[in-house]
Amino acid sequence: MTLSLPELPYAYDALEPHISKRTLEFHHGKHHNAYVKKTNELIKGTPHEKAALEDIVRASAKEGGKLFNNAAQAWNHAFYWQCLAPKGGGKPSGAIAEAIDEAFGGYDAFRKSFAGAATSQFGSGWAWLSLRGGKLEISKTGNADTPLVHGQVPLLTIDVWEHAYYLDYQNRRPDYVSVFLDHLVSWKFVNANLAAAQPKKASAA
Ligand code: FE2
Repeated sequence: MTLSLPELPYAYDALEPHISKRTLEFHHGKHHNAYVKKTNELIKGTPHEKAALEDIVRASAKEGGKLFNNAAQAWNHAFYWQCLAPKGGGKPSGAIAEAIDEAFGGYDAFRKSFAGAATSQFGSGWAWLSLRGGKLEISKTGNADTPLVHGQVPLLTIDVWEHAYYLDYQNRRPDYVSVFLDHLVSWKFVNANLAAAQPKKASAA
């Protein structure tokens, strides 16, 4: 199976003024596309050729290297686009709101902790809200690394590579992180991820 670049779930200008059309054109059309193309080059003629992207990420995690870096970045970006929505952000509702209250003692404490992870990740990487053993957890990963290969189920991510924000915010990563949390998070997507990971709990709620 040749992997393809997934389309954005919104127009390139749909996240303005928070993330510009120009940023999304470069980030999706150039950066994400390059990870997908490189992964296709690397799996050609190998046992990975017909595998799903998630399986390639898991299978290449131990050896690391080029295949893992490109495949994980392809997966992380496809996930990140869905974490964003026009008119998103702010306090969540639904099951994730209850889970956040339970795990962190309220949205404000969650916000502080997630923003802290995103701003303190040194250099390129990602911050995540994931489930581990059914419990919510905030973490950060460097470069292409992903919770998929650390026994976690990712629910939400923010890309903190400079290419995600430099055109709009230059070196002001904390501003980009605040805007992400206050105006862009797709809690609908996070709730869907939570329901998929905990189907019994979600239906009982
Ligand atoms: Fe990125």
